[in-house]
Amino acid sequence: MEQFVVEGGARLEGSVSVLGAKNAVLKHLVATLLAPGTHHITNVPGILDVEIMGQVLAHIGVECTFDGSAVTIEVPDDLVPETPIDLVRRMRASILVLGALLARTGVARVALPGGDDFGSRPIDIHLEGLEAMGAEFELVHGVLHASAPDGLTGAEVFFEFPSVGATENLLLAGVMAKGTTRIGNAAREPEIEDLSAFLSSMGASIEGAGTSTITIEGVPSLSPAVHRAVPDRLAAGTYLVGAAITGGEVTVRDCVPDHLRMELRKLADAGCEWDAGDDWVTVRGPERATPVDFATLPYPGFHTDMHPQMVALLSGASGTSVITENIYSARFRYVGELNRMGADVQIEGQHVIIRGVDRLSGCPVDACDIRAGAALVLAGMAADGYTTVVNVEHIDRGYDNFVEKLSGLGGQIRREVVDN
Ligand code: UD1
Repeated sequence: MEQFVVEGGARLEGSVSVLGAKNAVLKHLVATLLAPGTHHITNVPGILDVEIMGQVLAHIGVECTFDGSAVTIEVPDDLVPETPIDLVRRMRASILVLGALLARTGVARVALPGGDDFGSRPIDIHLEGLEAMGAEFELVHGVLHASAPDGLTGAEVFFEFPSVGATENLLLAGVMAKGTTRIGNAAREPEIEDLSAFLSSMGASIEGAGTSTITIEGVPSLSPAVHRAVPDRLAAGTYLVGAAITGGEVTVRDCVPDHLRMELRKLADAGCEWDAGDDWVTVRGPERATPVDFATLPYPGFHTDMHPQMVALLSGASGTSVITENIYSARFRYVGELNRMGADVQIEGQHVIIRGVDRLSGCPVDACDIRAGAALVLAGMAADGYTTVVNVEHIDRGYDNFVEKLSGLGGQIRREVVDN
């Protein structure tokens, strides 16, 4: 077991680079299933979820070779169209192999997904869309048996909610389906545009990715491609909140500031100053944050995956903030941990009420998921004394060299191996 030990009090100063987005690279890896041959993806972060997706693909018969921030993916002609329960349980994104395997082989056996514990996370929107395209499903002992007896056919689908994963699953299924697929109320995330760019470089015909209507003309086959992943806006945003919470000044390089418009706006409302160029952004934190209210929403709204970090910041603000979580029903497990550090945060239904306190105080806390873990590390940076964060494999799932990057900014943090 490993833990992070954080000593509070240091201001984060300097610059840090981010690599490609976890939430893009995982989908690129799955997209390679659509075309036999050798693919190359660059700007790949060294994180646990990418490793797990590599294992999912290995089970399917695909070989991933990692070399620094590049990965070469060898996709054979014949695939084993199934994913094992132990890997799917660890990572919800494994459900995306469904669309790709159905498109490539006409069948798929996928254990139902696990991943972060944010309350109920159904896949009904994925299944409804794929059914409209001719897929059939049967649940057998926790494993979804999918087939498309007559192949996948293009369809008009209108999502009840702009689900990121369902939009991606339909993109993967639609690019080689017969005819036209149109997705209405599609998710508009930059990572979806990036998946579409990768699929297009493989030969797919897609219009409207990044808008709420995506039109896909199916093509008979795709070819392997080379792609550089879009920068990770969530890693970037986390380091910027690090500047805000410590009253420091951090420049994040190799990012796309435009993908963080709403988050930067809320940081400004909290008293930060910021500057940005095409591929960098600098945030200067205030001596003490001012309270702000906001709601998490699908892109371009405030990202739910930046909510815990903002709560950590606002727990030291000079008044009361209210955050409304609209994407997940139960993304609040980190609140108890923050309160143990002296924060005054209350949950009322979907609302998080944060009464700013003068100072947090370090104590042992549990990184219950990726972003909660990052938020608790940031809270520790602003707290008195030492904060020990356990279950750091959650943080390792999503942050490339987190300890090294924070240390490079002057943060007092180290990784320790502990006996059980
Ligand atoms: C992706 C991101 C995740 C991010 C989320 C929202 C990856 C690997 N993960 O997750 O980090 O927090 O987008 O930006 O890219 N829902 C249904 N039925 C469905 C599908 C989703 O009810 O069929 C619900 C979910 O339970 C959740 C909400 O819709 O409450 C959002 O889910 P979705 O947009 O699909 O997120 P993911 O793709 O799982």
